[in-house]
Amino acid sequence: MPPQPITLADYEALARERLDPGAWAYLYGGAADELTLRANTEGWQRLELWPRVLRALAGGHTQVQLAGRTLAHPILLAPVAHQQLAHPDGEAASALAAAAQGAGYVLSTQSSVPMETVSQAVLGDPGRGPLWFQLYWQHDRGFNLALAERARAAGYEALVLTADAPVSGARDRERRTGFSLPPGVASVHLRDLPPLRRAEAGTYCGGLPAHALRWEDIAWLQERTPLPVWIKGVLHPQDALQAQQLGVAGLIISNHGGRTLDTAPATARALPRIAEALEGKLPLIVDGGIRRGTDVLKAVALGASAVLLGRPVMHGLAVEGALGVARVIRILRDELEIAMALSGCRTLSDATPALLDGASQLS
Ligand code: GLV
Repeated sequence: MPPQPITLADYEALARERLDPGAWAYLYGGAADELTLRANTEGWQRLELWPRVLRALAGGHTQVQLAGRTLAHPILLAPVAHQQLAHPDGEAASALAAAAQGAGYVLSTQSSVPMETVSQAVLGDPGRGPLWFQLYWQHDRGFNLALAERARAAGYEALVLTADAPVSGARDRERRTGFSLPPGVASVHLRDLPPLRRAEAGTYCGGLPAHALRWEDIAWLQERTPLPVWIKGVLHPQDALQAQQLGVAGLIISNHGGRTLDTAPATARALPRIAEALEGKLPLIVDGGIRRGTDVLKAVALGASAVLLGRPVMHGLAVEGALGVARVIRILRDELEIAMALSGCRTLSDATPALLDGASQLS
């Protein structure tokens, strides 16, 4: 028996061995030269923690306030498509593991398991984190609204609108392997999507961008759904300010795990700029390249309330199903606790930009 994995990197190495090359290319790959994919992890690694010592740490904990709730810790699972590529139980397994570990869960529109199956499995768990539905805007407004309403009826507590993928990125790895979804894995929520009418001649990307999500669509949806709306995929502070004017519930600072626009900035660089522009007016979540508890602590220090975890969840799922996902979350949380204790943070509110800058004024 191979040794028990003890880091998220161990899970990645094992998952790579187990997954077939096409599924690996899809789940792991970034866009083009994968510069943003690498910059995400390096962005967190490059930041230094300047520990404070000799502080009182009694009563220390990892709790955070998010979406009107107190969560046990700031880790949520990102909306990752087609999870049955990693394990036959797919999203049902990852959601169960998230609930068991008190982690929030964001289900992808492109889930391979119906949203009701997922929500029924976790809604009754009193220790679970928030349960949200990620909405990929489709070319038919009525279809989008019906999907939002279906999510509300199934118990999802917020909608996450993805803003950074009007088209897919240039995913070279995927194209090299000739990846396509294997039989039996499907985007079950998109089965009844009416076909796209023929695009106008002369437009780019096959006419798809003409139907992509716009600011006015978000306003339109907000008028019709009681669910809070988060926007995922914001990097520019100007967009963050515009989102705030629209009255969204919060923002997810993300470059889609480096899968859309290559050379977009690492989220560790975008987050502090957005936090500065918004001055605390909106809750922020960040994703991309979080692999260590120290990364989570740095994200909080830069202004995030919580982080989303994407690829590492797929690695845990591929290696050990729900158990692997649960272990991945627990490893990250344990590392976060150690990082907090060693940097003098009793709670996450002690993690401020000063923790990343020894030259800052005493606090
Ligand atoms: C879907 O969102 C993907 O990045 O493949």
